[in-house]
Amino acid sequence: MTRVLLLGSGAREHAIARALCHSGASVSCFASNLNPGIMALAAGFELGELNAPQAVVDFATRHRAELAVIGPEAPLAAGVADALRAAGIATVGPDRELARIETSKAFARDLLVRHGIPGCPRYRTFDALEGVADWLAELGDGYVVKYDGLAGGKGVKVAGDHLHSHAEALDYCRELAASGGRFVVEEKLIGEEFSLMSFCDGETLRHMPAVQDHKRALEGDRGPNTGGMGSYSDTSHSLAFLDDEDISTAHAINEAAAAALHAECGAPYRGFLYGGFIATSDGPKLIEYNARLGDPEALNVLEILQSDFVAICHGMATGTLADCEVEFRPAATVCKYVVPEGYGVKPRRDCTLIINEEQLAASGASLFYAAVNQSPGGTLETTSSRAAAVVGSGAMFAAAEAQCEAGLAAVSGRGLHVRHDIATPQLLERRVAHMRGLRSSHEAPAVMAA
Ligand code: AMP
Ligand code: GLY
Repeated sequence: MTRVLLLGSGAREHAIARALCHSGASVSCFASNLNPGIMALAAGFELGELNAPQAVVDFATRHRAELAVIGPEAPLAAGVADALRAAGIATVGPDRELARIETSKAFARDLLVRHGIPGCPRYRTFDALEGVADWLAELGDGYVVKYDGLAGGKGVKVAGDHLHSHAEALDYCRELAASGGRFVVEEKLIGEEFSLMSFCDGETLRHMPAVQDHKRALEGDRGPNTGGMGSYSDTSHSLAFLDDEDISTAHAINEAAAAALHAECGAPYRGFLYGGFIATSDGPKLIEYNARLGDPEALNVLEILQSDFVAICHGMATGTLADCEVEFRPAATVCKYVVPEGYGVKPRRDCTLIINEEQLAASGASLFYAAVNQSPGGTLETTSSRAAAVVGSGAMFAAAEAQCEAGLAAVSGRGLHVRHDIATPQLLERRVAHMRGLRSSHEAPAVMAA
């Protein structure tokens, strides 16, 4: 039985814990909240400072961990993977320098350009206001301003959504420059977003099914951006608005990025490589890289992973992924998050979460706890972040969505919000129609002047 250290305690880590235990591992979790789902599965569980390398190594040593799996990005940025490797523990999660693919937007963009990897929008990096106005003038109405560091998804402001004039864009840039931050100003891409995550050992990549997340808090893609309200994947492991070439291009971009990282950093990237793409009329473009599994996307893909997850993690951590079988069931998956009302802006603090276990089991859906704490009395207390995710799967979309909703019906409480429109036929059709419209206007021949 492999003894695995799991770092992190959200819904993604609950899903990772379940997949590891399913493959026969004994999991010890170093956590930031009292996640009842992980506590029920784990042989060891302790609250601690996830971003403190020595504290994590001490915990791993006490639990005699042979393998470590790092869930969130902040410990990667803090050098936790470096410390675990230095302590002789095979680790899934890149070293700090390699994790710059996520922690610095400018590094990720420059890497693509330096290595001639396609999919990069036009961009420039700044640390002061000089030159920004000219660059905005060149970009016109389609621009995005990004803080060049980890900001929990809050550092990105998009023209038309958050910024409504060059003056507003300059104000935001001024704010970033004043706080000593570098920032990237880039072309706004128009299309449909999708996540393409790969298992990576530095040499070999094995790709996961494509997933679409929903960042906006409210139904109909309205409201503020969030960490992700829910996601789906299709039986084909592609998505209805993508063609085969989009998928193969995204695979090739991830492969080229991993090779470029190896070449530049002189060390293999060992971990999950998550490309956040947008399908445009001109092919897939890269929005960002993450050095971890997506949350909620991990819940979709791990639900249908057929192969031995411990073996895959071991393969990534030791450079032997080429020897591993990586297969996913041909099923559709739908994930919807239960969050406190106001999540994304000003979340309610007085929410309660009650799970009817019998009803949940009867639905066949999976439930993963996120940022909740189980009180000594057994009550589930929510925090300012997402509370729990329900995942349904099925041979067809409709069955997966129905199972997810049946699972959600087993969740009750006060002050909770769910985006029920995720993966409904109306929303799926809207995505396909959006992409069809973009592709056909791109392909339409230019009107010739007489
Ligand atoms: P990021 O933190 O880089 O993933 O950005 C957060 C969100 O901002 C993305 O999920 C997109 O919806 C949006 N975004 C970021 N970059 C661009 C871009 N170049 N064009 C259009 N939307 C973008
Ligand atoms: N699903 C968005 C993220 O994990 O960053």
